[in-house]
Amino acid sequence: MATIIHFILIALFIFPTHTLSQSNDDGFVSLLLSEKGVNFAKDVLIEQAISSLAPLQLPQVFKKSVRIPIIGNINMGASNVTIYQVNVSSSSITLNNNNTGEISIVASGATANLSMNWSYSYHSWGFFPFEITDQGVASIQVEGMDVKLNIGLEYDGGTLKLSPLKCGCLVKDIAIILDGGLSWLYQGFINAFGGQIRSAVESTISDKIREGILKLDSLLQTLPKEVPVDDIASLNVTLVNKPLFEGSSIGLEINGLFTAKESGVVSKYYHKNLESSVNSPSLQKMLGISLDQAVFNSASDVYFKADSLRWIVEKVPDQSYLNTNRWRYIVPQLYKKYPNDNMRLNISFSTPPFLKIHSDEIDVTIYSDMIIEVLNDDEIIPVACISVIVKASGYAKITENNLGGHIDMEDFDLSLKWSKIGNFHMHLIESLMRTFIKTAALPYANSRLTKGFPLPIFRGFTLQNADLIYRRSKIMISTDVGFTGS
Ligand SMILES: *[C@@H]1O[C@H](CO)[C@@H](O)[C@H](O)[C@H]1NC(C)=O
Ligand SMILES: *[C@@H]1O[C@H](CO)[C@@H](O)[C@H](O)[C@H]1NC(C)=O
Ligand SMILES: *[C@@H]1O[C@H](CO)[C@@H](O)[C@H](O)[C@H]1NC(C)=O
Ligand SMILES: *[C@@H]1O[C@H](CO)[C@@H](O)[C@H](O)[C@H]1NC(C)=O
Ligand SMILES: *[C@@H]1O[C@H](CO)[C@@H](O)[C@H](O)[C@H]1NC(C)=O
Ligand SMILES: *[C@@H]1O[C@H](CO)[C@@H](O)[C@H](O)[C@H]1NC(C)=O
Ligand SMILES: *[C@@H]1O[C@H](CO)[C@@H](O)[C@H](O)[C@H]1NC(C)=O
Repeated sequence: MATIIHFILIALFIFPTHTLSQSNDDGFVSLLLSEKGVNFAKDVLIEQAISSLAPLQLPQVFKKSVRIPIIGNINMGASNVTIYQVNVSSSSITLNNNNTGEISIVASGATANLSMNWSYSYHSWGFFPFEITDQGVASIQVEGMDVKLNIGLEYDGGTLKLSPLKCGCLVKDIAIILDGGLSWLYQGFINAFGGQIRSAVESTISDKIREGILKLDSLLQTLPKEVPVDDIASLNVTLVNKPLFEGSSIGLEINGLFTAKESGVVSKYYHKNLESSVNSPSLQKMLGISLDQAVFNSASDVYFKADSLRWIVEKVPDQSYLNTNRWRYIVPQLYKKYPNDNMRLNISFSTPPFLKIHSDEIDVTIYSDMIIEVLNDDEIIPVACISVIVKASGYAKITENNLGGHIDMEDFDLSLKWSKIGNFHMHLIESLMRTFIKTAALPYANSRLTKGFPLPIFRGFTLQNADLIYRRSKIMISTDVGFTGS
C-alpha cells in the first residue's frame, strides 16, 4: 500500500513537470513584448534601416542613344545615382502573418531624394561637323514608395534566427529635376531613363534591406548566451523555446538562471511555478518581464558555492562593539580572559539564503554562523560561534537596467554553536546583536543588493517607467522601453 501511495505521489510530481518540459520547463524568465512594444521595435528597426541605407549609391551606369527628330541621335548617360534621404510616413507590422510564423512589415508612402550626374553628347556629321557635349547634376524626387518585407523568425538552438523571406519595393512615381541647360532634352531623358532608374532604385533598396536583415541576424547569432553579472556569476540567457505569438504581442522564454562563471557547473534542478507568466491583456506598457523566484535562488546558490557569502567584520559604526571591554558585563568571562582586546567577526552563511516571493512581499531566511574572534598580540583566536538566523522581508527595485533589492529585518534567532569561554546566554547578547544587524550587517547586505544584476534586454535599450508587481513566486516588471542606440 505504502509503495502505491509513494508511486502516485511521484507520478503526481513528475508528470506535470514532464508535460511542461516540452514547452518551457527550464525557462525561468519570460518576456512579453506587447502590441505597443512590437510597434516600438518596428519603428526602431525602420529608423535604423533608413539611417544605414542612406546615402546609397546605385551601382548602375545608364547609357542610351536616343533619336530626336530633326537633330538625330544623341548619346545620353546618367551615373552616380545616389539616394540621400528616405522618409517613411506610415508603417505597420503583422506578427505571425497568416499563421506562418512570419513577421511582415509594410512601410508605405515613403519618399526619397536622390542626386545623379547626367551627360549627353551629340555629333553632327553635316557640312560643318561639330560636337556638343554637356553634363550636370540632377535631383530626383521619389514619391509613394512602398516597401514590403516578410521576415522568418525561428527558434534555433537557444537563440532566434531571422531570415529575409520576401522583400519588395515599389516606386509609384519619380520626378527628375535637371539643373542646367538640358531642358530641351528633358522629355527624351525621362523617356530614356525614368523606368530604368525607378527599377534600379527598387531593386537596390530591396537588396539593401535583405542585406540588413542578414546583418541583424548575424548580430543575433553573436549575442552571448550568458551575460556576465560579475566575476563570479553570469546569467544564462539561452532562449528555451520558439517565440510565442499571441495576437499582436510576442513572448519569449529564456533560461534566466544564474550560473557559476568558473566551474561551468550546470545549475541544479529548479521547479517552476506553473501559473502563467506575463499575460498580455494586463500589460499596459511595452515590455513585461516575469522572473521566477528560482532566478534569485539560483543566484543565492552560485554565490554560496563560490564561497562569496562570507564577511570579516573589523569595522562597525560604533567601533566599541568590537572590543572585549564593551562585552565586559555581558560576557564577563570573555573580558576576563582577553581584557581590552579588539575583536572581529567572521560571518559565513551556512546554507544559501532561500527567497520566497508572495503577492505582497518577498521574504528571505538567512542562516549564518558568526564566529567571534579576539585579536590578541597578532594572533586571531576564535572564541565562540553563534548561529544567527535572520528572517528578513524585502522588496525589489529597478535602477537603470538592473534589478536590485533591499531587505529589512523582521526577526532573528540566536543559538550558541560552540564556545571556548564557557556557556553564555543568548538573551544577554540579543540587544547587542540587534544593533549590529541593524547598523552594520543589513546596510552591508543592502549595499551589495542595491546594484543587483542586469535584466536581459538588448543593448541600446533602456527601461523607462518600470513598475514592479509581485505574484506568488514571481516578480513581474511592466515597463516602457527607450532606444538610446548602441
Ligand atoms: C557622386 O556624387 C557625389 C555627390 O553628388 C560626389 O560627392 C561623388 O564624388 C560622385 N562620385 C562620382 C564617381 O562622380
Ligand atoms: C495571407 O494569405 C492570403 C490568402 O492566402 C493572401 O491573400 C495574403 O496576401 C496573405 N497576407 C500576407 C501579408 O502575405
Ligand atoms: C523628410 O522629412 C523632413 C522633415 O519632415 C523634410 O524636411 C524632408 O524634406 C523630407 N525628405 C524627403 C526626401 O521627403
Ligand atoms: C534631400 O533632402 C534633404 C532634406 O530636405 C536636403 O538637405 C538634401 O540636400 C536633399 N538632397 C538632394 C540631393 O536633393
Ligand atoms: C558628379 O557631380 C558631382 C557634383 O555633384 C561632381 O563632383 C562629380 O565630379 C560628377 N561626376 C562625374 C562623373 O561627372
Ligand atoms: C543554460 O540554459 C540552457 C537552456 O535551459 C541549458 O540547456 C544550459 O545547460 C544552461 N547552461 C548552463 C551553464 O547552465
Ligand atoms: C572564518 O571562519 C572559517 C571557519 O568557519 C574559516 O575557515 C575561515 O578561514 C575564517 N576566515 C578568516 C578570514 O579567518
